[in-house]
Amino acid sequence: MIRCTPAVLLALALTALPACADALLEQAQADFMTLCAPCHGDDGRGHGPKAASLSAHPADLTQIAARYGSFPEDKVFATIAGLDMPEGHGTRAMPIWGDVFVTEGVGKSTTLADAMKASDDASRRIAALVRYIASIQAAP
Ligand code: HEC
Repeated sequence: MIRCTPAVLLALALTALPACADALLEQAQADFMTLCAPCHGDDGRGHGPKAASLSAHPADLTQIAARYGSFPEDKVFATIAGLDMPEGHGTRAMPIWGDVFVTEGVGKSTTLADAMKASDDASRRIAALVRYIASIQAAP
């Protein structure tokens, strides 16, 4: 059985048919402008309108590859999803998007099938955001 690690989910999103991949990237860009730009800025450099009021400065998302030497897809996925939270949740300046997307996807449903679908959809949405962020990396 394939274990659904972030890497596997990401690979699934990345190897989707080109047409699907384009649609995913467009969805990710729309998500980014609505959900991420308020803090990280339209260009991802960390100067969104909400940035000044936060206790922690939003990261410059265009410099991740430069900072790590290459683009760490798994790490970025984990950060957005909230999988790398040391203390469960709620302490960082950025929302835990994994929780936000799953909650949004489940809505008022109480079925396991809907919960699992919401979790899959949330993973795909985050993997697409990872791809979008990879696409805006500054040239080294
Ligand atoms: C409320 C403000 C806020 C919003 C909205 C927000 N972020 Fe962040 N983000 C931060 C802050 C602050 C940090 C750095 C410190 C931290 O993690 O608390 C950060 C860090 C990150 C990092 C880690 C970068 C690195 O260098 O390792 C990634 C990736 C990231 N954000 C992606 C996103 C994505 C994708 C979205 C939209 C779905 C988003 N953020 C929305 C505030 C925000």
